[in-house]
Amino acid sequence: MTVAAKVKSITSGLLRRRSADNVEKDQTHDQHVQNDEQEVFLPPLRPVALPKVLPSHQYALSEHGWTTVTYNEPTDNLHEASQALFQASQAFFDLPQSYKETFKTEIGSEEGWSRIEGEKELITLRCLGNTPKELKEAASAYWAEAGGLLNETLGRISESLGLPAKSLTQYSEPCAKLGSEKTATMLRLFRYEGFEGKESKTVAEPHRDLGLLSLVNGDTPGLEVWDRNVQKYYQLERTYARPAGSLLVGRQLERLSNGRYVSGGHLVRSYPEEITSDPTKPPKPSRPYRFSIVFVLRAHSPIPVDTDNLTTSITGPYKNPLRDITANELFSSIQSAHFNINTHIEEREVQRQRLAEQKRQLEETKGENEKAVEYQTVEAV
Ligand SMILES: [Fe+2]
Repeated sequence: MTVAAKVKSITSGLLRRRSADNVEKDQTHDQHVQNDEQEVFLPPLRPVALPKVLPSHQYALSEHGWTTVTYNEPTDNLHEASQALFQASQAFFDLPQSYKETFKTEIGSEEGWSRIEGEKELITLRCLGNTPKELKEAASAYWAEAGGLLNETLGRISESLGLPAKSLTQYSEPCAKLGSEKTATMLRLFRYEGFEGKESKTVAEPHRDLGLLSLVNGDTPGLEVWDRNVQKYYQLERTYARPAGSLLVGRQLERLSNGRYVSGGHLVRSYPEEITSDPTKPPKPSRPYRFSIVFVLRAHSPIPVDTDNLTTSITGPYKNPLRDITANELFSSIQSAHFNINTHIEEREVQRQRLAEQKRQLEETKGENEKAVEYQTVEAV
């Protein structure tokens, strides 16, 4: 099934918008508390042309929190940059562990190299200074392409909300290049294990990303996205008949758009064999690894956040207004309410239990503490 077939068109003049609680409730892989049954009637998003997204795939981004990036033909700079980075990434992960360990940091998956046995190895690049020499050239070129695309996409999203492009690109422009200064944005390279064998295995638990937008490129299918209409995961990358990327909405954008763009639930699974589009051909043999490139655009830390400046007739009044905070403070409050799927399994369980206890305590005091809303979910990063 194509993305287009899965997207509900908005044909009426008014869109019946779910309350933020109902948006969360739609994603049953997450646990949420429903506060009220408030419903707000808002106009539809203004039509915009998201770059590199086919017209029939455009609405999926706001409705589901994910869509497909289709490369230009016959050549596409982003696709070429991704192929070069895949090559560099495979060569890097093939290097001895003792060398890769020199890129380990105290902040784990937020920067540098790390390994979660039985699941994956990853390296998170934040600035040139922490980028291995083997990756510098390809990572810089890819960052420039992906950063440029997501910056432009964010501008169109801003316009779809009835705002000037700059209202949202002010958060992304300072992160559009891999430079000497660390920014909130990151480039993560993964080598997932378990792509051999007879059974599917989940190698990244269900979660939603924390930032504004994420762009995922996989060298073999593995990404599955949450379909809110049928309440199931959808094997998005298996639908790609030609190389394509996947675009995901993160929690920061959901907050800044007052839920008009929902964050996209997703997971990564290893499949026992690759399905070919031609049923007369035998399945391709399984591969030991899946490589992926994930560009995570996060709002530039020092930029102030004031939802009064983002309020339009399309966003409607903010359910949880944000004033007098920075993008970094918004990020920290979202991050502290979620456990990190890229930490070791034992540490993940500790984080999960700690957050469940926080949630229980805050539910007891709900109504007394406005910040409780930030802790209503117990989910992964
Ligand atoms: Fe993710």
